[in-house]
Amino acid sequence: MTGNAAHPLIDDFHLLSYDEVDSTNDEAKRLAEGGASHGAFLWAKRQTAGRGRMGRSWVSSEGNLFVSVLLKPDVMQERFSELSFVSALAVLETLQPIVGAQCTLRLKWPNDILLDDRKVGGILLESFQTTDGEMWAVVGLGINIEHHPEEVLFPATCLKEAGVQIVSAKIVLSRFIHHFIQQYDAWMENGFPPVRAAWRDHGWRLGQEIQVTSGNDKISGRFEDIDEQGRLRLVMPGGTRRIISAGDVA
Ligand code: BTN
Repeated sequence: MTGNAAHPLIDDFHLLSYDEVDSTNDEAKRLAEGGASHGAFLWAKRQTAGRGRMGRSWVSSEGNLFVSVLLKPDVMQERFSELSFVSALAVLETLQPIVGAQCTLRLKWPNDILLDDRKVGGILLESFQTTDGEMWAVVGLGINIEHHPEEVLFPATCLKEAGVQIVSAKIVLSRFIHHFIQQYDAWMENGFPPVRAAWRDHGWRLGQEIQVTSGNDKISGRFEDIDEQGRLRLVMPGGTRRIISAGDVA
């Protein structure tokens, strides 16, 4: 692991760069335990044990973007889950000018970024408590720039395959940092309602029939909305509603 000194950004934010770590999310947790401060972006060129949601692994060889943001948000812990929507909006703003008008970006509930219906990025949001009792959140983001995995649950792509003018992970990172800080500050100031409204404008299959796998349950229905806490509201055949807080949408 090669860690650099923290590079100051705006306000409390700062950047730590690594050639290689196991997982930027795990490194962020270790830093929090070691007394790090709120606002660290941790960027690694590669990860040896990159993690996805639900304990899946995340292929992390050089060329793609792997970054985590370590945060101590000044809100109740129940609201930490809103951060994955805040981050998804920042990713959307980052990628939109890169992919241009010829490709369509969508946000797949809860944490995926789709490019022309294929997964180009994913967010792993984790909250944890350090031994001093402080509550933290870490937002981990992976964006497929030069390569993508083949054997995955949901079809994947990368910017290169989509025929997008290729940009380096470093450029994508710098734009993401800019948009993330803006989105985070707006969330702190205005709360979740504007984030929810913006997310809905780009939600994948919103208003359409979907299948959700949640634990051992596979449920079909119409994706009516995301609620005030970002949970998925599904209308089942017959009209009953189900509120789902975790799962895979297809
Ligand atoms: C998912 O779609 O399952 C979420 C993938 C999140 C991957 C990123 S890469 C940077 C950070 N470090 C990790 O180990 N995971 C996240």
